[in-house]
Amino acid sequence: MERIQKRIAASGVASRRKAEELILEGRVKVNGIVISNLGTKVGPKDEVTVDDIVVSKLSSLYLVLNKPRGYISSVSDEFDRKTVMDLVPKEFKDFHVFPVGRLDYDTKGVLILTNDGDFMNQMVGPKSGVQKEYLVRVKGIVNSSVLNRLENGVMINGKMTLPAIVSLESIDRENSSSLVRITITQGMNHQVKEMFKAVGYEVKRLTRVRFGNIKIDDMSEGEIRRLTIHEVKTLLELAKQPKLLRKK
Ligand code: URA
Repeated sequence: MERIQKRIAASGVASRRKAEELILEGRVKVNGIVISNLGTKVGPKDEVTVDDIVVSKLSSLYLVLNKPRGYISSVSDEFDRKTVMDLVPKEFKDFHVFPVGRLDYDTKGVLILTNDGDFMNQMVGPKSGVQKEYLVRVKGIVNSSVLNRLENGVMINGKMTLPAIVSLESIDRENSSSLVRITITQGMNHQVKEMFKAVGYEVKRLTRVRFGNIKIDDMSEGEIRRLTIHEVKTLLELAKQPKLLRKK
């Protein structure tokens, strides 16, 4: 048996002192029952939750990285290129995290990392309603009929894409390029680039600016931070929302 604050701290959710605060705030349950006694002890089979999220010793870790260009979104690379794992700080190395889905080598922006396979499946599984928002710099001037086609769905690799939310941010006539914002709920291979290819445009730069509720406006490139328990909870709720669907 061990003190409950030790169990919570070992999971990485909060320090022992913070764990005591969580207990006093009534946010900690043991086997489904709120506990308020700081002296509570738990055994290996007891289920401890903070804000109804299970805390176990094999602690789950959820991170967000502001991925720079020039990194592969995988744990290793057969060609010895840099991977996003090179950006994971020492303190998180023992947690064996992996990326939740992929961003291309030359795509930057929001990338979630975790060691929780179940969470990953909920985020990127076929039913996931998590929205992914991208800023896309394309070669050429985009007009409203192109935006409509992207919004309604285009054929890529023999499959029609689900509806997207698309808007034109700006046009650079001097350099003949356009900046488009697109939000999708699917995660087909190179989906955004393929969608633009399908309507005759080449993507020059791609940035994922949002994954569900997670943004990285205040993070520098290459920076990683832990997601809060509430951010994780919200992501799980968003995953259960319906995908963007075609209007009948
Ligand atoms: N779509 C792409 O084409 N590439 C990415 O990296 C992400 C979405």
